[in-house]
Amino acid sequence: THQWRGIIEEYRDRLPVTDTTPVVTLREGGTPLVPAQVLSERTGCEVHLKVEGANPTGSFKDRGMTMAITRAKEEGAQAVICASTGNTSASAAAYAVRAGMVSAVLVPQGKIALGKMGQALVHGAKILQVDGNFDDCLTLARSLSENYPVALVNSVNPVRIEGQKTAAFEIVDMLGDAPDIHVLPVGNAGNITAYWKGYREYALPSPATTPAGDASRRPLLPALATRRPRMWGFQASGSAPLVRGEVVKDPSTIATAIRIGNPASWDYAIAARDESGGFIDEVTDREILRAYRLLAAQEGVFVEPASAASVAGLLKAAEQGKVDPGQRIVCTVTGNGLKDPDWAVAGAPQPVTVPVDAAAAAERLGLA
Ligand code: F0G
Repeated sequence: THQWRGIIEEYRDRLPVTDTTPVVTLREGGTPLVPAQVLSERTGCEVHLKVEGANPTGSFKDRGMTMAITRAKEEGAQAVICASTGNTSASAAAYAVRAGMVSAVLVPQGKIALGKMGQALVHGAKILQVDGNFDDCLTLARSLSENYPVALVNSVNPVRIEGQKTAAFEIVDMLGDAPDIHVLPVGNAGNITAYWKGYREYALPSPATTPAGDASRRPLLPALATRRPRMWGFQASGSAPLVRGEVVKDPSTIATAIRIGNPASWDYAIAARDESGGFIDEVTDREILRAYRLLAAQEGVFVEPASAASVAGLLKAAEQGKVDPGQRIVCTVTGNGLKDPDWAVAGAPQPVTVPVDAAAAAERLGLA
């Protein structure tokens, strides 16, 4: 019986680790690539969802965090710090536990989803709510890591990007080639940077010394996968600095995960867009919520609002006639719906209460 071993073991030959690196893992990655029937019908394309909410802490951050905490451990760090809109902090807190390290997290006061706060708390993180937004938290985290004995595990740490690029590897391994288009929500812009790096590396010939063993267990697709997708990124309208071409001082959106006005990986995101022939656009909160409901009610995939920005963007592009039929498209849905269930409950009808009585229950269910 073979269990997925986590992204470092599965893609060891493509990651900055050595034989003696102490791997800290929760067996992240290996997430489902789910065919999206309704989205495929609507767009006339073959649409897949890369369901990153299936990672151990419920978001794609675990791919980067296994690398960041592993390398911090290797370098002897005893404490890690991050700024976060919630998911990074949940992931850092969990992986720090595995590594026997202390974690400190800086979150924007009142602007992170309850589920994510609960995760950081239960994993024992030291949490500071900062009287500011995510961008302020990141400035503070950077300053603390430069002046105190604590390692920064935000995506400005390049090994985070290394870990996250494995999602692109998995997609190529599963599909047999890169898709024509890859669609992502964009906040701090680390993930679009990582996917583009992953697709670029897989498009190159395999490393000269492809070791036997692990690598040989995978199909020999990388060498064949010479295509690269166009990268489409979507920001929330109230937090769309890359679309505006300038920093947004007071970002707003219901998708708190991507409520970011000054993305750290700005230049890399623009490079991914331009090198791939893609684009970065915005979607409104209303469009995000519509896609959020469609995903849950029609595809059976429950994601958090920020994740639905990718799908909202695809639908918007389709309505604008930007999606030629027949293409293969992957949308990453970045985080689990349970992170932020308020939006599932809001506006939904209250369940009715019935006595322990089959006839009454049948009647209320419309069966009788
Ligand atoms: N989707 C979710 C669910 C996220 O949590 C994030 C980022 C993004 C998309 C955007 O990814 O920043 O790489 O462009 N969350 C970070 C955090 C900022 O602190 O958890 P990005």
